[in-house]
Amino acid sequence: MEEKILKFFKENPDVHLSGEQVSASLNISRSAFWKHIEKLRSLGYEFDAVPHLGYQLRKIPDRLYPQEILFNLKTERVGKDIIYYDTIGSTNIAAHSLAKAGAEEGTVVLAESQDKGKGRLSRQWISPSRKGIYMSVLLRPKMTPFQAPKITLMAAVSAAQAIREIAGIPVSIKWPNDLFIDKKKIGGILTEMEAEPDYIKFLILGIGINVSTKVSDLPKGAGAIHEFSGRRISRIELTKAILERLESNYTIFKKDGFSPIRREWRNLSVTLGRRVRAICMHKKIEGEAVDIDMDGALKIRLDNGFYERVMAGDIVLLR
Ligand code: BTN
Repeated sequence: MEEKILKFFKENPDVHLSGEQVSASLNISRSAFWKHIEKLRSLGYEFDAVPHLGYQLRKIPDRLYPQEILFNLKTERVGKDIIYYDTIGSTNIAAHSLAKAGAEEGTVVLAESQDKGKGRLSRQWISPSRKGIYMSVLLRPKMTPFQAPKITLMAAVSAAQAIREIAGIPVSIKWPNDLFIDKKKIGGILTEMEAEPDYIKFLILGIGINVSTKVSDLPKGAGAIHEFSGRRISRIELTKAILERLESNYTIFKKDGFSPIRREWRNLSVTLGRRVRAICMHKKIEGEAVDIDMDGALKIRLDNGFYERVMAGDIVLLR
């Protein structure tokens, strides 16, 4: 009911609404209406209450409450089920349990903070409360585990597009899925999955974005969007935009394959055309990053003219 009451206020932003009006429209009693207003206030919503005039919604709290993400969210499936935590170990771990219990494709886990946030290559992901977006999206793509990197690249494209749209900042992607502004990493994606050799049971896209994180809290080389935007960026709007882009790119991917995603990834890349060092599990390679192939692997031209494909690892941009 709180969601319906909020919707009512948001759809009438410029007027005061009397308790009578709202309760009659939503078919609830005056005292129930009043209790819901108190509940919303306790969640951080601010209402202006004027005698004889009624209530006006004055402020929405800076929280990623499901009712805020769902308000006018333009997706069919992604984000329609949201599990929200004030704090949790890792949203990826929570999403993993939900997936095992049969949660539907598109289910999203969101947290205001994580105390065991996981980064790629067993690193930690610093996740201070309400400073960033820490979110996991459950997908059930019909493909082999070998194809999963393409989904991760699609997620990186979606997050970069959403940041560009909401913050108006030229974010780029460093292979495979680090989000960079200028020379600072402001976000990343950790894909985890459960699979058999020939099919994926489910895949979790863990997306972490530093929105207003203090630089002093972050590891060396990392940054946050607010350093570059010069204005406050709404985490709610950014989360919605990521979910919308994710769904539309996933639909494109399922219909037209990886080519359109690859094209967009190339446009957003800071890696291609640069001299790089690739640090892989068993070797280090240096050369020019020339392309990503149809499997999502990075193609590097070595100094001896030969090419190597890198499927997993870390990239250092040299010049
Ligand atoms: C990286 O190292 O670049 C990937 C970082 C991914 C962090 C996100 S935050 C939400 C989700 N839950 C986690 O524990 N990790 C991912």
